Amino acid sequence: MRRLLGVWALCAAIAMTAAAINGGAGQKIAPTFAKDVAPILFNKCATCHRPGEPVPMPLTSYQDARPWSKAIREQVAQHSMPPWYADPEASVKFRNDRRLSPKEIETIIAWVDGGSPKGDDKDLPSLPSFANGWSWGAPDLIIPMPVEFDIPAEGELPMQNFFVPVPFKEERWVEAVELRPGNPAVVHHSIANVTRLPEGSQIVNGRAVKVDTGKVVTSDARQTGGLREEVFLSQDSFTRAGAFKLVGQAPGKGFERHHEGTAKRILPGMYFQFNMHYQPTGRPERDRSMLGLWFARKPVTHEVLTKGVTDVIFIGGKELGETKIVNGREVRTRGKLPNIPPYAENWEIAGELPIKEATTLYAFAPHMHLRGKDIKYILQWPDGRQQTLLTVPKFDFNWQLHYELEEPLKIPAGSKMIAVAHYDNSLKNRYNPAPQKEVFWSEQSWDEMFIPWFEYTVDRMDLTKQASAK
Ligand code: HEC
Repeated sequence: MRRLLGVWALCAAIAMTAAAINGGAGQKIAPTFAKDVAPILFNKCATCHRPGEPVPMPLTSYQDARPWSKAIREQVAQHSMPPWYADPEASVKFRNDRRLSPKEIETIIAWVDGGSPKGDDKDLPSLPSFANGWSWGAPDLIIPMPVEFDIPAEGELPMQNFFVPVPFKEERWVEAVELRPGNPAVVHHSIANVTRLPEGSQIVNGRAVKVDTGKVVTSDARQTGGLREEVFLSQDSFTRAGAFKLVGQAPGKGFERHHEGTAKRILPGMYFQFNMHYQPTGRPERDRSMLGLWFARKPVTHEVLTKGVTDVIFIGGKELGETKIVNGREVRTRGKLPNIPPYAENWEIAGELPIKEATTLYAFAPHMHLRGKDIKYILQWPDGRQQTLLTVPKFDFNWQLHYELEEPLKIPAGSKMIAVAHYDNSLKNRYNPAPQKEVFWSEQSWDEMFIPWFEYTVDRMDLTKQASAK
């Protein structure tokens, strides 16, 4: 390792001399860290790449960044860092778009090609102040996971779910929310939902346990031989009355603040569910993640709702449905999702959701697992015209991103939201844990999910008007 560093330093020295000579010859002078590169790294990278965060290295000083300069060049040239997966060609702009500008990319490349010089310390900008703790000051209410959880040093851990009863007696409006890992090293990503307890279960030590069997409720298809006895929390939980996703957390993300006048409503009698995806680190670890809530300070006019584009499902272009006779009437119900066949390379599923009332759209959060390949959200306007709002051409399970529209979008009644996704269960997918296997649907990462979430408000449901009408 030391020898490698030595060679590296020598190469760097030669490169630096070359750059200096070029500079002397009146050609372009290489950008320096202090003057040109630090402002980019501090603003666009250090939100994640700083001490204490679950990243390979901090990028908060020359000493930290210098040994990584080649990797930095590669990552930014390939548009792999900062992580952002929306197709830039889409017609919609996102307010949390993390991408570097072409000029920023050029600057970083020129800096590395010029030998990664340090420059003059007096040009160095000061590091922005990062929330050391909660992102928006102290939350009004902090809800820790009900128990501390021990993560073994090795192995693949199923999704862990913990439940905490909503502690208030009246509905509360949440303007901002943050999910914070207790131990960032071991939390791959996590989601906080507001939900009900799975049927026939009760809470024991923070877990939902079946009253009759005393077993922790699971939706792991592997444990049930592919027959999901305990189907909950996947698609189904979001059709259960009042259940919704509150916030998702991944490196560099976990805080969400809603637009002024809008908030999420939390009802008494519900449960906060911590849906935890842990990744063992090679050492035994413990985690107790925390949820912070900031209640609305100003009157709320509209409730932010979260829904998946899954009212009607199409498999290979054919509507998935069954007809049943209920009370003597024929009723169309959704059939069981077929499994993804072994080695399928481009398996398609599509969802549709009719927009029955004028709606305002704020954000997308597509959710799939390791076979997720690509996903698209299309809006069909009432006149039949289709507009692609978000395309994620290369979905990456590791980055469960939330795409927030820069301008909320007004959608008239009679429109339709459409989501189309593909899954790659072939050998070509390097994340595929088992291409030879049929893939079931469950919340476990080795199974699949299709939840094209989006966040919206319904224009008609103006709470201030409802109140004054009373
Ligand atoms: C949202 C959080 C986040 C942001 C913003 C971010 N990174 Fe990263 N970065 C990560 C994580 C997590 C990893 C490790 C996992 C991975 O490679 O996906 C990583 C990995 C890397 C690596 C690869 C290290 C290795 O092991 O080879 C480089 C280089 C890198 N980032 C550079 C950057 C640069 C430069 C920026 C800004 C222009 C940036 N990152 C912005 C989270 C982030």
